[in-house]
Amino acid sequence: MKRSTDSISIIGLGYVGLCTAATFASRGIRTVGIDIDEARVEQIRKGKAPVYEPQLDRMLKSAVKRKLLGATNDISGATGTDTTFLTVGTPSQQSGSIDLSYIKNASEDLGKVLREKRGYHLVVVKSTVVPGTTNGTVKSSLEQSSGKNVGPKLGLCANPEFLKEGTAINDALHPDKIVIGSNDKKSASQLSKLYRRFYGRKLPPIIVTNPESAELVKYASNAFLATKVSFINTVANIAQQMPGVDVGTIAEAIGLDPRIGSLFLKAGPGYGGSCFHKDLQALINYSQNNAYDPMLFRATEDANEQQANRVVEMAEKLLGSLSNKTVAVLGLAFKKDTDDIREAASLRVINQLKKMGARVVAYDPMAIPNAKKVFSEQIDYAENPHSALKGADCAIIMTEWDQFRKIKAKDFQGYMKTPNLVDARRIYDPEEYRELNYAAIGHGARREKILSNHVPS
Ligand code: UGA
Repeated sequence: MKRSTDSISIIGLGYVGLCTAATFASRGIRTVGIDIDEARVEQIRKGKAPVYEPQLDRMLKSAVKRKLLGATNDISGATGTDTTFLTVGTPSQQSGSIDLSYIKNASEDLGKVLREKRGYHLVVVKSTVVPGTTNGTVKSSLEQSSGKNVGPKLGLCANPEFLKEGTAINDALHPDKIVIGSNDKKSASQLSKLYRRFYGRKLPPIIVTNPESAELVKYASNAFLATKVSFINTVANIAQQMPGVDVGTIAEAIGLDPRIGSLFLKAGPGYGGSCFHKDLQALINYSQNNAYDPMLFRATEDANEQQANRVVEMAEKLLGSLSNKTVAVLGLAFKKDTDDIREAASLRVINQLKKMGARVVAYDPMAIPNAKKVFSEQIDYAENPHSALKGADCAIIMTEWDQFRKIKAKDFQGYMKTPNLVDARRIYDPEEYRELNYAAIGHGARREKILSNHVPS
C-alpha cells in the first residue's frame, strides 16, 4: 500500500533546501529537488554539492546513486509527490524588511501546477518568513494560481528549520525539536507522519501550533542567540578594562546556572553569517510596522556593529596609529569550517582598517575566493598564515580556525616586523603569548603590560 508520506519535493536548492533534501533521501524518502538555476540542478544530478557543507557531498552522491534524490528545474515535478517544502531565500530589502518575492513566485508557480492534481497535496513553508506570511502571501498566491482553497484538498503548514552552517547535516538528523504551524489537523498529521517515518524511535518533541506562532519561533530563536552573543561581548568589553579579569571565567561561571546555559557565551568580534543580522532586521522592521519598537533587538544589533570597532581600537592601542601599518588579518569566514563571509565581522574590521589607512594582508583557509569578490584588489591575500604575518606590524585573529591555534608565539615573533597580536577570537592562552604584545577581547591585561606596549603616535 502506498503511504501518504512516501515522496516529497523541495523548491529552492540553496543551503537549507539541499541539506533537507539530502537528509530526507538518506532515510529512504523519495525526494525531488526543484530549482530554477539549471547549472545548479545539473551539478546536483551528478551528486555534487554546489555549496560547502561537511557530509553534504557524500550524502548527495549516495542519494543520487540510490535514485532517492532527483533534481529538476521543472516545477511540475512537485505534483508527483505528496508534500512540497518551500526553501527559497528570503533576503533583506534595502530597509532591512523581508523580501518575499521569491516565496511569492514559488507559491504562484507551485499553485499553477497543482491546479490539475486530483489528490491531496501539502505545502510546507520552511523558509524563514515573518509572522503572517504563510497564511498571507503564500496562501493567497497558492489559492489564486491553483484555483483551490487551502483545506481538505490543499494543505498548508509553516515548519521552520534551525540548521547551523558547518553542522547542518547533523542538526537535520538530530534536531532538538520540530515545530509545525498548521490551520487544520489533516495537514499537521501528514507532516507529523512524515517526521515520524524520518526519525523513527528517535523522534524529537513536536510542537504543533498555528502558522504565525511557528514563524515567530524561528525569529525568537535567532534573536535570543544573537542577543546572547551581544550580551557576552558587552561583558567582555567590561572585563577587558579590569586588569586580571577574563571573560572566559565569567562565562564559565554564569553558564553553570541552568537558567543561563553554557552555550553561545563565547566572546568575540561580533556575530556574522547570513541569518542573525538579516532575521533581526526583518523582525525589528516587522514589529515596528506593527507599532512596537523592540529596543532590545536594536541594542543587540548596535552592540554587534560596535564590536568590530572595538577590535580595531585594540590594534590601535598596540600600534599607536594604523596609518601605513601592515595588518595581517587571519580569518575571513564568519565562523570556522565554512567559506561563507556574509555579514562576517572580518568585513567590518577590514573596512575600518582601510579607512584608517592600514594595509591589509588577509589569509583564510577557505574564504579567500569569496573575499576577492568583495575586496578585489583593495587588500592583499596570502597563501598561508606565515606569509600573511611576514613583515606585518600587527596580526588580528578574526576566525577561530583550528590551524591558527597551532601558530606559536615564536612564529609571530619570527615572521612579524613587530609582534603585536589582537586575539579577537580568544584562541590563545595569554600566558603562553606573554612575550608578544598580546591583547584579547575580554581579557583584562595587567596594567603594566598595557602601558609598556603603548607606542604613542
Ligand atoms: C544560526 C543559528 O544558530 C541556527 O539555529 C539557524 O538555523 C541559522 O542561524 C539560520 O537561521 O539559518 P549560523 O548562522 O549557521 O546559524 O551560525 P551560528 O553557529 O549560530 O553562529 C552565528 C555567529 O555567531 C557566528 O559569527 C559565530 O562566530 C558567532 N558566535 C556564536 C559567537 O560569536 N559566540 C558564540 O558563543 C556563538
